Amino acid sequence: MQQAAALVATARSVVVLTGAGMSAESGVPTFRDAQTGLWERFVPEQLATERAFRANPALVWTWYMWRWHLVNGVTPNAGHNAIARWQQHLGATHGSLTVATQNVDDLHERGGASNVLHLHGSLGAFRCIDCHRATAFTPGTLESKCTQDFDDENLLTPVACQHCATGVLRPGVVWFGEALPEEAFERAIDQLQTAELVVVIGSSGLVQPAASLPLIGRDAGAKLIEINPSTTELSQSADVHIASTAAVALPSLVAKMV
Ligand code: APR
Ligand code: ZN
Repeated sequence: MQQAAALVATARSVVVLTGAGMSAESGVPTFRDAQTGLWERFVPEQLATERAFRANPALVWTWYMWRWHLVNGVTPNAGHNAIARWQQHLGATHGSLTVATQNVDDLHERGGASNVLHLHGSLGAFRCIDCHRATAFTPGTLESKCTQDFDDENLLTPVACQHCATGVLRPGVVWFGEALPEEAFERAIDQLQTAELVVVIGSSGLVQPAASLPLIGRDAGAKLIEINPSTTELSQSADVHIASTAAVALPSLVAKMV
């Protein structure tokens, strides 16, 4: 921890890369946790692909309404808040901190971070499955029955697109087999070229191309810290692996600085 604290205290340009583990202590399930992971309970091919949505729009729409309500019912954890304080501190002292997340929740923003790069899109960025136009839509009482656990016996009807006659809304997340939002990914790569420090938090490092980002930073000369209670593919490449959680390790690392 001391080595990591020294890197945190001196780095002027930082990239923080986060995965589902970042939101775990807020109560949002991760994907691959052996007991509670979403992919232990649901089949990704049935819920997180365009083909699945077109085959059964009501099932996929209801699952995302359940996830949307789950995320909106929780609050950022101490790790989200620590990253925001760190970003504000660097911003005020002519440094920079970029957050690039695989998470589709808005907990980084609600925790105070700004200019967050969403590599896998955002739950709340709804668009039409046919004409692809963004549509302002806030799930409300119609979806309130989704506040309990996901119930595939009581499916919702997907919301019709306001712009075209055929389409219905889909969540603005990146489904398996889809390309990442180019601008977000390019900006992350750009920031990694000059980063002195890359911190990877709560990512299993199994899903490309996001999983390649930490090593792009390291190969460009950055030091690499990993915060994860488990070891991952990345651990042997990290300068420091902190076997702890986001909400415990980050406040402790940042406290010494801000
Ligand atoms: N703090 C830090 N790390 C944690 C915590 C925590 N409190 N709890 C769990 N972790 C770690 C786990 O050990 C694991 O390595 O977070 C990681 C979560 O891994 P995944 O569930 O695979 O989530 P993620 O890496 O974000 O998945 C990548 O897969 O299904 C797709 O699009 C989805 O963005 C997601 C992508
Ligand atoms: Zn449309």
